[in-house]
Amino acid sequence: MASQIVASILDCDFRNLGAEVAGVDAHVDRYQVDVMDGHFVPNLSFGFPILEAMRKLTERPLEADLMISNPDRYAAEYAKAGADYVIIHVEASEHPRRTFQEIRDAGGKPGISISPGTAAAAIREFLPEVDMALVMTVHPGFGGQSFMTEQLRHVQALRQWSDELGLNLHIEVDGGVKADTARLAVDAGADLLVTGSYIYGSDDYRKAIATMRSRIG
Ligand code: DX5
Repeated sequence: MASQIVASILDCDFRNLGAEVAGVDAHVDRYQVDVMDGHFVPNLSFGFPILEAMRKLTERPLEADLMISNPDRYAAEYAKAGADYVIIHVEASEHPRRTFQEIRDAGGKPGISISPGTAAAAIREFLPEVDMALVMTVHPGFGGQSFMTEQLRHVQALRQWSDELGLNLHIEVDGGVKADTARLAVDAGADLLVTGSYIYGSDDYRKAIATMRSRIG
């Protein structure tokens, strides 16, 4: 699977969301919208209005990454609001299979996520029913944190199980992804690389993305 760069907008300049998207749109492959409820994670971010605005600003695939305590209630709504992929945390969902189906019925593709402290084995049984698995490489809640290399063992396990099962599963890492850690993640088996402050904290968005692209091949 070709490696893809996924821009997380969490740390972009929201005074100019349109310009922040236009500045990278020709250079990234997807976007991630981080939905945080201040309960599942110690931060409050945004919801449907930002997802809907992103849908109008780009034709590229959009991920809604639900870091909320009751993803089962809202997941399908994010697909209806324009998300191509809706990612729920296994630690928060009470009935993941039903929610995967509701996301599909709403026209989206489901993804399942694990936070640090949760083993890849916790989502193994769901792999045939999702389009992507996300391994958080930081404790979810904030951008700008350091990459947890110990999380790469979960990426390796998921890629091995996916291959054994003959699945075409996207495996994503999120948190502390920069040019060097992106390479480590690809070597471990990830193909989707979420990156936020590495892009939006840089002086030259396109140069930062080009540097990462050159490292992940
Ligand atoms: C953190 C979010 C990430 C974050 C990534 O909980 O899920 O998507 O925005 O930002 P960086 O790349 O700065 O770690």
